[in-house]
Amino acid sequence: MQKPTLLSGIQPSGVIHIGNYLGAIKQWVELQKTHHVFAMIADLHAITIPQEPEKLRENTLRMVKLLVACGISAKGGSVSDGNPDESVLFVQSHVPAHTELGWILNTITPLGELERMTQFKEKQEKSGLYAGLLNYPTLMAADILLYQTEVVPVGEDQEQHLELTRTLANKFNNRFGETFIVPKALIQKDTARIMGLDDSSKKMSKSATSANNYISLLDEPDEIRRKIKIAVTDSDGTVRYDEEHKTGIANLMRIYRAFSDKPLEEIENKYAGKGYANFKSGLADLLIEKLEPIQKKYEELTKDESGIMDILMAGAKHANSVAESSLATAKKNVGFLARE
Ligand code: TYM
Repeated sequence: MQKPTLLSGIQPSGVIHIGNYLGAIKQWVELQKTHHVFAMIADLHAITIPQEPEKLRENTLRMVKLLVACGISAKGGSVSDGNPDESVLFVQSHVPAHTELGWILNTITPLGELERMTQFKEKQEKSGLYAGLLNYPTLMAADILLYQTEVVPVGEDQEQHLELTRTLANKFNNRFGETFIVPKALIQKDTARIMGLDDSSKKMSKSATSANNYISLLDEPDEIRRKIKIAVTDSDGTVRYDEEHKTGIANLMRIYRAFSDKPLEEIENKYAGKGYANFKSGLADLLIEKLEPIQKKYEELTKDESGIMDILMAGAKHANSVAESSLATAKKNVGFLARE
């Protein structure tokens, strides 16, 4: 039986923080057993915010290594031979069909739908009003629809974009005939929104002004200890889960739960009467232990980078063949004259 298709993406910032990991990438890795996974590095999306060209190239390569180190099983070569157990790891700009379908979808997207997107409003305040930023969600819809994706594991901040993708898929199908599968977002409630360590009212973010906001998967043990030690808490002093009144501690406890697979109650019992310093030191130990294998694998890949481009070229080949076929159907249904 054919596995259902899963696609998700991440922007090439050079950093994966534990929010990205717990909210999204961990699911991509786990679902590889049961799904045909397309893991995409969203460089076309990245340039909606100004990027240094050399840095963008560097960050894209780093992201490939990080995803492989996290457990995305793409080895290069064999995927194009149709090995069903391998994931397709590819760079968005290597597949021209994304921009082409993105354009077509723009023509059926009311402007108001794009203007009301929370991410657009937030980013536009920071970087100015550019057409690329406004059209970000239609490109994202194209990313997903081209692969006849059924499942899209993402953090909560992408939920609105997924809703629009579903709306556009239905609209296109109704107007031009059945063309796209209408995808579902997969949002893990417990980890969908990991908050910043230095400000528990805002989500953990790569673009935060201070690196104390997040734990990167590549942070050294000392750095992890330092950041957890200064993470915001409260003056109550008891390790108790209270999402409303103890947002800092609640966030740290959710991180602890996700990395240890222990229920919140067990964590509360373990640290009953022991204070925050003790809990924080336990959490830092846990993070160091869990990130070590990822860091080790990343180092190995950095020592020998020869396979990285192989992975990407095989990924691009496979992704292009799937995407071109969907795009051809969409263009035919829209009424474009076929090219002989
Ligand atoms: P990006 O690069 O901002 O983030 C990658 C993934 O990490 C999730 N995430 C979080 N989850 C929990 N807590 C947090 N603090 C946190 N911060 C980020 C994001 O929700 C995301 O799942 N637009 C996308 C990239 C993209 C995409 C796609 C995703 C492009 N095309 C198609 C899915 C399908 C983005 O900027 O993700």
